[in-house]
Amino acid sequence: MAVTTQQLIQYKQQGRSIVTLTAWDYAIAQLLDLAGVDVILVGDSLAMVALGYETTLPITLEEMIHHAKAVRRGVKQALVVCDLPFLSYQESPQQAMRSAGRILKETGVQAVKLEGGYPAIAQTVSYLVEAGIPVLGHVGLTPQSVHKLGYRKQGKTVEEGERIFQEAIALEAAGAFAIVLEHIPNELALRITEKLSIPTIGIGAGVHCDGQVLVTADMLGLTLKQPPFAKAYVNLQETITQAVQNYNKEVRERKFP
Ligand code: KIV
Repeated sequence: MAVTTQQLIQYKQQGRSIVTLTAWDYAIAQLLDLAGVDVILVGDSLAMVALGYETTLPITLEEMIHHAKAVRRGVKQALVVCDLPFLSYQESPQQAMRSAGRILKETGVQAVKLEGGYPAIAQTVSYLVEAGIPVLGHVGLTPQSVHKLGYRKQGKTVEEGERIFQEAIALEAAGAFAIVLEHIPNELALRITEKLSIPTIGIGAGVHCDGQVLVTADMLGLTLKQPPFAKAYVNLQETITQAVQNYNKEVRERKFP
């Protein structure tokens, strides 16, 4: 049975940790799904890891739809969520509806993710959820605000921590089915996780979250520069380079084919 948003809430109640990874194409998505990941996120981090941009800001709705279609074709079990890219939802709830509607209709993914909290984004979340569009929230370090926040850890002061805490509460009240907590102190993530009935999915937010997400390119050791909280479970850069060098050699020495 395919994973649903309701099931993720049950996982929290059962204390079963939610495994989430990002994907940007059919091949990666198929592998993640067959390996049993619960949630596959077509994250706008693909702007950086797959398209070579400096930040996530340049990626367009069209490009996200293009990648989400490919990912969706590779997935049978996992819940697939697609990021709403920068400036495809911040203008108004109506703009968000048009963008999220296109994503759901044209790609077949089951939910969207957007960054930010209270008050404007929470209102937008409520508008989307009322229309039947499941929404994954995202607070803490929100990379679409890099020029305002940088990539530094968020919520380190009492005021900042309180703001993030209130944003998470507002997103739950607005109907989000889960919330990504990015790069915040562990104690703050614990406080939010204990307060909310919906699951928290952490990245650089410690062990107390209801699940974890990593950018798959980081997890596979494909990126040159990784955030401090990422973990590479394999070094594919080395493996691929070695394979290509072996191929070069065999072709040049006429050993292959
Ligand atoms: O774009 C992305 O990959 C994300 C995750 C880091 C949560 O938002």
